[in-house]
Amino acid sequence: MPTTSPDDPWSAVADDWGRYWGDFARPAWEPLLRTAGIGPGTRVLDVGCGTGELLEHLQELGARPSGVDPAPRMVELARARAVGVDVRPGDFERLPFDDGAFDALLAVNAFQFAEDQADALAEAGRVLAPGGVVGLAGWAERARNDLDAINSALAAADDDEPPEDGPLRLEGGLAEVLRGAGWEVLDGGVVPVPWTARNDTDLVRGILFGEDASTVADLAPVVVEAAASFRTPDGSYRLMNAFRWAVARRPEL
Ligand SMILES: C[S@@+](CC[C@H](N)C(=O)[O-])C[C@H]1O[C@@H](n2cnc3c(N)ncnc32)[C@H](O)[C@@H]1O
Repeated sequence: MPTTSPDDPWSAVADDWGRYWGDFARPAWEPLLRTAGIGPGTRVLDVGCGTGELLEHLQELGARPSGVDPAPRMVELARARAVGVDVRPGDFERLPFDDGAFDALLAVNAFQFAEDQADALAEAGRVLAPGGVVGLAGWAERARNDLDAINSALAAADDDEPPEDGPLRLEGGLAEVLRGAGWEVLDGGVVPVPWTARNDTDLVRGILFGEDASTVADLAPVVVEAAASFRTPDGSYRLMNAFRWAVARRPEL
């Protein structure tokens, strides 16, 4: 299994991300796209586009998507999936696009990775045209996520505590950051986001993606036991989780 590099933590896990998680955030797309008014012809930048599932969806809607991601392998996979879409290497703080190039900017499960949220929002404002909107979505607090049972069991197996919820996960967290940067919040909410695995093998691979083979072998029983209550009669797993989302209009610059 590939090992991750501190400079490029996502390339080594990009293939597994696409396989087990690439489509996962789909339920959060609908409120973002509706509230942002994205439709045929809308120029949309997907920041932290990962393996390109949202780009492909935007293409199918007739929007005009572009993508950006710092991980070279993510860029490669997104280009292969959303054929013909302009996907560039880059990150939130340095978007490789012209001023005013987009009507909407989306970041799904990615804004939390920005080194500096204020800089990221300033950069988002720069690439948006006047009246442009940003749509952000990401994990809600642990208490809303079945996945927390597994993460807590893995932390306990390591004599550790599960990570605390960051402010963006809490009610009002996204809106507070956006308002603090001068954006007009149009709407927001919380949406159920199930994650499914076909069997024990996919459950373990999906949860432990990026870990080396011996760690996977050690931790597989912990994962399977912690997920027991989410196992369905056919041997697959269904975990209910939640994403918070918010859409805001760019401040006048
Ligand atoms: C959890 S994945 C989500 C990918 C995709 N948006 C999705 O919903 O499947 C996070 C993505 O954010 C990217 N990322 C990490 N740091 C970033 C940054 N500073 N700016 C933009 N994207 C970043 C990663 O390379 C990765 O593709």
